Amino acid sequence: MATTSIDLKEEILRLKKERNAVILAHNYQVGEIQDIADYVGDSLGLAYKAQETDCDVIAFCGVHFMAETAKILNPDKTVVLPDKDAGCSLEQSCPADQLEAFLKENAEKNYYVIAYINCSAGVKALCDVICTSGNAVKIVNNAPEDRPILFVPDANLGAWVMEQTGRKMDLWQGSCYVHVEFTRDSINKIKEEYPDALVVAHPECTTAVRLLADEVCSTEKMVDYCKNAPVKNIIVVTESGMLHRLQKEAPDKNLIAGPTDKCACNDCRYMKMNTMEKLRNCLRDLAPTVEMPEEVRARAEAPILRMLEQSK
Ligand code: 13P
Ligand code: SF4
Repeated sequence: MATTSIDLKEEILRLKKERNAVILAHNYQVGEIQDIADYVGDSLGLAYKAQETDCDVIAFCGVHFMAETAKILNPDKTVVLPDKDAGCSLEQSCPADQLEAFLKENAEKNYYVIAYINCSAGVKALCDVICTSGNAVKIVNNAPEDRPILFVPDANLGAWVMEQTGRKMDLWQGSCYVHVEFTRDSINKIKEEYPDALVVAHPECTTAVRLLADEVCSTEKMVDYCKNAPVKNIIVVTESGMLHRLQKEAPDKNLIAGPTDKCACNDCRYMKMNTMEKLRNCLRDLAPTVEMPEEVRARAEAPILRMLEQSK
């Protein structure tokens, strides 16, 4: 007999109890996973939750770098993720060996390196401080004034933070393949359809798209923005999983997924690799786990702790 989704849900909850596990999920996960998770949030909220938990196992439903961050903060816990291949185009755009070579070639600059959390443990280990889209402005404002800043890997987020802080930074030329799919044309078209709508966009979008937005913020801040918006129609320019969370938290609003030139909404193929079946399997098998050499973990932990301290 095929497993029904009710059976699957019960199995996940039973395994979660048996394993003494916590289920953490990013705002872009499929609705069923968000609904069964103990906490749903953005990268910053998830990092805090991972730091706080006293469970033995963290089942991290997001992409690999997020689960890796949880492991960096919890070396003695078991961190499992439903699909070990759930990567991120931003992480891929900045390999640690390339960053290391760049820093060596430019050693005389004495860069203060700020890394967006969407990067590998190897990259984190080379940085001074980490930021997320939720605290990037604060972290950059706190950077030492007497050192040039290198911001990796997202050039779009970096450009937005430069505008917000007035601080010049050298930008690594990485991007999120999902958010760069939104275009001026695609957003203008949907604005014409809903002329009274407000537009909220993620800072990973290009500058051309950001300029059309009424608000630019992290996925978690989108929740408050939508709840408190004085209008009914809101165009949400980010990955489509966000709509599930927003519809639950702001049920009186008409939330419209930002379209691309090709599609009415925009999925991250990595975020969507996770399924309820794979979540059940990772809790049942305690695999795949996130592992890394202790020397890398310890070096990557310091800039994450600096961030968590600075953004309290
Ligand atoms: P948030 O931290 O705003 O949720 O962003 C994470 C992400 O991967 C956006 O693409
Ligand atoms: Fe990475 Fe973009 Fe997917 Fe976020 S939406 S996980 S930045 S590829």
